[in-house]
Amino acid sequence: MKPTIRAVRHPGSSGRSDPFAGDDVIAGLRAPHKHLPCKLLYDARGAALFEQICTLDEYYPYRSELALLERHLPAIAAAIGPAARVIEPGAGAGVKTRMLLAALDRPASYLPIDVSSEQLAATAHDLAAAFPGLDVAPVVADYTQPLEVPAATTATGRTVVFFPGSTIGNFEPDEAEDFLARMAELAGRGAAIILGADSNTDADELLRAYDDPHGVTAAFDLNVLAHLNHSRAATFDLTAFLHRAVWNAARARVEMHLVSRRRQVVHVAGEAFQLERGEAIVTEHCYKHGPEALAALLDRAGWQVRDTFVEPRGRMRLWLGVR
Ligand code: AVJ
Repeated sequence: MKPTIRAVRHPGSSGRSDPFAGDDVIAGLRAPHKHLPCKLLYDARGAALFEQICTLDEYYPYRSELALLERHLPAIAAAIGPAARVIEPGAGAGVKTRMLLAALDRPASYLPIDVSSEQLAATAHDLAAAFPGLDVAPVVADYTQPLEVPAATTATGRTVVFFPGSTIGNFEPDEAEDFLARMAELAGRGAAIILGADSNTDADELLRAYDDPHGVTAAFDLNVLAHLNHSRAATFDLTAFLHRAVWNAARARVEMHLVSRRRQVVHVAGEAFQLERGEAIVTEHCYKHGPEALAALLDRAGWQVRDTFVEPRGRMRLWLGVR
């Protein structure tokens, strides 16, 4: 069979499909505690740096989840059944997607959703070549916002939302619930969700994972500023900032900070922002929800937990939910 790749879809022209629409960058820099949207981490260089992070021993979430998928995908695939329609918010490099598609019984279609059209096109192309007969329908969109996906064109089995990598932890808790509820709505009755989440609270291990001694995570974080220099005519001097990871135990989250090494003024899209020496710009929150919190989130969002699979060390866990 000939591989099928549909044209990359940019749904709507409402401005919603533009990942940098609205001005979340300017609003975040004007806030009393400066912050930037974590989607800025993923330009082409950021995506490549994240792939490099995944090769580091210190970044355990990647390999732990890979081992869980290797071990439990047969059971998960059996529960899902044939001809599944797979929706993946955040396409990534496709390693885990390939594992899922290979485990499923003749998957019908694959709908990756991502803000990066280059990465999306590359992933879609590779997967269509690797899985002849799979209908690949990429959607360029910011999945943190309301979105639509193309309807199934052929008779399919269950719709499966695949959201690995503990990316659920990047949402604020109320937004995580909204997101899971939107995915439930999008996927419809009878759908399933495969969610991977980290619940580690060991500060030392977390700080090694989010501020690795090789400096890859630091480069990944600082790249947000380079991204803004290109995309928003910003004037960040990357040598004037340091990456710092903070474990906020009270909120159960790792915080990625870019700390200003001196008092300075930076310009972004023509607007000036003053930073004090030691002042931080928060680029990412990585919530480490415990299993009870995550079960409650899924439940409130309309997903019934069908099964969970946890690594021996109890950090990473896969959740299989249905509705
Ligand atoms: C890709 C969002 C799951 O939160 O662990 C890695 C991103 N940040 N190192 C995570 C990330 C710093 C990662 N996610």
